[in-house]
Amino acid sequence: MNEAYAGREQTEAKHAILRHYLQELALITLGGKEYAYPTLTYVDGFSGPWQSRCGDYSDTSFMIALGVLKDVQRQLVRRGKRPVIKCFFAEKNRISFAQLDAAVRTYDNPSNGFHVETFNGTFQGAIADIMRFAEGFTLTFIDPTGWTEYPFDKIAPLLTRRPGEVLVNYMYDFAGRFTSWSDPKIVESFNGILRPGWPERIDRSLPPGEAAENLFRQEFKDAGGFQYAVSTPIKKLAERTHFCLTYGTRHWKGLEVYRSLERKALKQHDFRRFEAKLAKEEEESGPLMFKASELHQPFTLDAQTEREKHSAAEWLIKMLRERGRPIPFGQVSPQMLDRFALTPSEAKDVCVAMADNALILPTWLDVGSKRKKPDKRDLIILVVPPDGGTAPSLGASLS
Ligand SMILES: C[S@@+](CC[C@H](N)C(=O)[O-])C[C@H]1O[C@@H](n2cnc3c(N)ncnc32)[C@H](O)[C@@H]1O
Repeated sequence: MNEAYAGREQTEAKHAILRHYLQELALITLGGKEYAYPTLTYVDGFSGPWQSRCGDYSDTSFMIALGVLKDVQRQLVRRGKRPVIKCFFAEKNRISFAQLDAAVRTYDNPSNGFHVETFNGTFQGAIADIMRFAEGFTLTFIDPTGWTEYPFDKIAPLLTRRPGEVLVNYMYDFAGRFTSWSDPKIVESFNGILRPGWPERIDRSLPPGEAAENLFRQEFKDAGGFQYAVSTPIKKLAERTHFCLTYGTRHWKGLEVYRSLERKALKQHDFRRFEAKLAKEEEESGPLMFKASELHQPFTLDAQTEREKHSAAEWLIKMLRERGRPIPFGQVSPQMLDRFALTPSEAKDVCVAMADNALILPTWLDVGSKRKKPDKRDLIILVVPPDGGTAPSLGASLS
């Protein structure tokens, strides 16, 4: 257990996702053969420090990002590349800003291709400066404590900047509760992210948290012109989503990378929450006989994945019926990952299980092929029963 995050396991999960995604993104965009850009710009709109417990700020998003980006730059320089990395940190609070500025200044080293810029003021107020500063690919991290400080129309230039992606911390629990209120001031406070008139567009047939989040994700996707927008639910100790990290991208590769590391982060988060709950129990009722690692059974997450696979198969059947023609797996996979919390390899497993259940044809096994799973060019073809009747139904398990 990392003591710096004791009692705030949700922050640990947020930082894990940021750390791993930023690392993969930097390696792919600056070092990859297919997607090489000369510059990566990282923007943290709500930098902190905030509730940091480490003297060296190693438990803050800004220090995590600097550590990752420095490390990637070193790796790429060793491979003979000359990547340029630019970081922009905005922070409104004067005292926090002074701490932030002092901590990140030393990283500014333009002659070595590492630029650091700070801004004392609001994220909205920093947009013009950010747009002047940004070069190459941008990743923007929006991590506020509420929902009023990043109205999409005010930050649109950055949201829509290409090439670029955005990761935003959406306050699921609070937003879900407050969107049920009819107080005009509260209704108005959501206009920035849900757009005016949102009470007419929210799906009241869903639980409030889910309804607000669905609308938020759709508005975020539209405002940024993203092709894909997915949300990772993060819980505190209680079995309830506290916030979501919502990720917007225009590239299937980003989506694949994000979905893979999301699963790893959620597994770890599940275990940390279990550890923390045991520690609490121990505090209240004395020492336990077993350690968390001996007791933990990752059933909840596994069961959730099974449900996602099942829903994904149902969705795929419906889509193939509606389209009325085969679709290459390369098109099916990103659409599936956009709708369901599955990894790229699980999207393949869904198709294999569907073929085993005679719902689609196992085209990847065509003559001469040794592949057990589909790849991008394989056509996904719905099995149409010869008598025109209904197709066989889905098996209970798709694993
Ligand atoms: C949740 S904390 C950020 C935590 C940090 N991203 C991390 O993970 O370590 C939000 C921060 O945003 C700052 N803040 C609040 N409103 C802001 C605004 N409109 N623009 C920029 N910063 C703001 C707060 O002072 C606080 O430090």
